[in-house]
Order: sequence, then C-alpha cells, then structure tokens
Amino acid sequence: MPSVSSRLPVFPWDRLEPYKATAQAHGGGIVDLSVGTPVDPVPPVVRAALAAASDSPGYPTVWGTAALRASILGWLARRTGARGLDEHGVLPVIGSKELVAALPAQLGLGPGDRVAFPEPAYPTYEVGARLAGAEPAPYRGRATELDPAGLRLLWLNSPANPTGRVLGAAELREVVTWAREHGVLVFSDECYLELGWEAEPVSVLHPEVCGGSHEGLVAVHSLSKRSNLAGYRAAFLAGDAALLGELLSIRKHAGMMVPAPVQAAMAAALDDEGHVAEQRARYARRRAALREALTARGFRIAHSEASLYLWATRDEPCWETVAELSKLGILVAPGEFYGPAGERFVRVAFTATDERVAEAVARLTA
Ligand SMILES: Cc1ncc(COP(=O)(O)O)c(C=O)c1O
Repeated sequence: MPSVSSRLPVFPWDRLEPYKATAQAHGGGIVDLSVGTPVDPVPPVVRAALAAASDSPGYPTVWGTAALRASILGWLARRTGARGLDEHGVLPVIGSKELVAALPAQLGLGPGDRVAFPEPAYPTYEVGARLAGAEPAPYRGRATELDPAGLRLLWLNSPANPTGRVLGAAELREVVTWAREHGVLVFSDECYLELGWEAEPVSVLHPEVCGGSHEGLVAVHSLSKRSNLAGYRAAFLAGDAALLGELLSIRKHAGMMVPAPVQAAMAAALDDEGHVAEQRARYARRRAALREALTARGFRIAHSEASLYLWATRDEPCWETVAELSKLGILVAPGEFYGPAGERFVRVAFTATDERVAEAVARLTA
C-alpha cells in the first residue's frame, strides 16, 4: 500500500514539545497561547437548542434542515451583504477543516492540477492539495501574480491565519476578476470575518467584490471562533449554486452529514448576535492587554488587524523567540509552522482565559 500520509507536509508540533515542557515548569503554570481554540462557554442559547434537538433518531440530511438553511441565509444577508443567494447557494459542512482538507479531491482535482493558497497560511490548504495528488502553489503577496497554467483552485483567507491581515474590497475584487478571466475557482476562507479589530473584513460575496454574481466563487464560514463552537464542528459554504450542488451530491454519497442536534445549535447561533458581541468584547480586552505587553517588551506587531492572533516579531529567528517566551512560561507558535515567510515571527493567540492572559501580561512586563 502506498503511504498517503507520506505525501503530507511534516507539521512539527512535536518540535514545540521541549518548549512546552519548559513553560509547564514555570512556577505560575503555563500560559498556552500557541493554539487558537476557544476557551469561553458555549452560549446558553446554543446549548439550549442542542439539548432541545437531542431526540434525533433519524439520519440528518447533508444539505441540512430548511430551518438551518434559512438561518444561514439570514446571517449572510446581514453580515456579508450578499444579495441574490437562495438555499441552493448554501451547504453545511462538519467544521471547515474537513472541507478544506477534502475539497480538492471532492472537486476531482489531481496530478497536473495546481491549488494555490497564501504563504504563510493555515496548513490545511496544502494538505488538501497533497491528499488529492495536486500540486500546491503557495503565493506571497498578490494572488494575481500567480502563473494561471494548470491552476484550478485558489484559496483566499481574509482575515488571515496566522497574520491577522485583512484584504480590502478592491484587492478582493481584483483577485476575483483575475480568477474568472483564467477559469480558476475561488474559495474564500472567512472563518474570522466577525473578528475585525482595526479593519472591517469584507466577504467575497459582497456585491462590491463579486459584482453581484457568485459564479466560480464560494465563501467558507465557521462557527468555531464566532460562537465558541469548535467542539460542535459547525461550518458552512455559500456561493456558486452549481458548484455547491456538485459538492452536495458528492458529500451525500460520502455521508458527510452535520449531526441533527448540531444543525439546530448552528441555527440558534446564527440567529443570535448578542453572544457574538459579548465574545468579541472578551477578545478585544485580551488582545489589547497582550498587544501592549508585547510591544513594551520590544516586539513589533505586524498586520493583526483582525482574527484571534497577534503576529509578532523581535526581528530574530522564531525559535529564539519561542525559547525566550517559554522561560516565562508562555507558549506561542513559531511562524515557521505556517510557511517559510513566517520564520522570523511568532503567532500569539488570545484565546486564553482572562486569568491566564493577565498572568502572561504580568510576566511580560515584570
Ligand atoms: C484559517 C482557518 N480556516 C479554517 C479553520 C478550521 O476551523 P473549523 O474546522 O473549526 O471550522 C481554522 C481553525 O483554526 C483556521 O484558522
């Protein structure tokens, strides 16, 4: 049997282990800012919806309930300004990571096809390309400078992980226009759309970007960060109805269903903006405190206008920064994990409790 895993990039979280051990040995305990996993409670309105739907003996559908599709469409209209979408233009997925990893294969891409994604980036775009046997095509800077030969799928990620960078409407429109000219599909990972701090993130579905047509265009949204639902696995796609119809058909054959109680929870979460404002306020406080403490310690923060991360550098190799911070009991992710462009940066997540963030700030400023 040929090994599929050997096609995948080495993602060396184990290289972080010694630094984790150092941080854990700190007298005040570790402050783990290396991963972007939510730590605050699941909103009560969402838990109630999940509980109310717990008697779900039958199979759910891949397309989701009509109620979920209506909630998704309502949210899209309110938060992205998308116009002209109907329920054929939406599709629930089981968290966005599975979709990112499976998409190139589900689109039938393979050897000879190229899949482009930003660099540095969330590593799963490359994983998806490699699982399909397609060629990864990382780009730094503008996607429109890519060679379009063999390019079938282009990933955008704004606000970006790990840099927190936001692409403006004009830049997004340029990329969409270019991709359409060259027959390249655009998938835009917008899982941090509701987490803008110094910039207002724009969706590719906004008429100013897509020109009112969703052809060749799909936005990927997740409730993991917005609603503290990473544990539920709740995300969805929105955009080109023909393309989503094709994915729906494939995913039906593969049984890729969001569990029915989770569908009910998703609808409740999308219908409620109150918990989002509350969670945003928590992150805004933690972000401001960490930003100030890092700056006081000599860090320069690049981009980071949105998302759950501060992209920080002391203009030295990232592992030196990781080592130094681990001695303070603070664990951060080396930028190298997200591609060579990150080798002099670290990614500092502000998904830790208020108590842990205050502890990190105290140690950084002591
Ligand atoms: C850019 C980006 N896309 C997708 C995901 C996956 O999110 P989920 O699978 O929880 O929807 C993450 C998670 O950190 C991410 O940072």
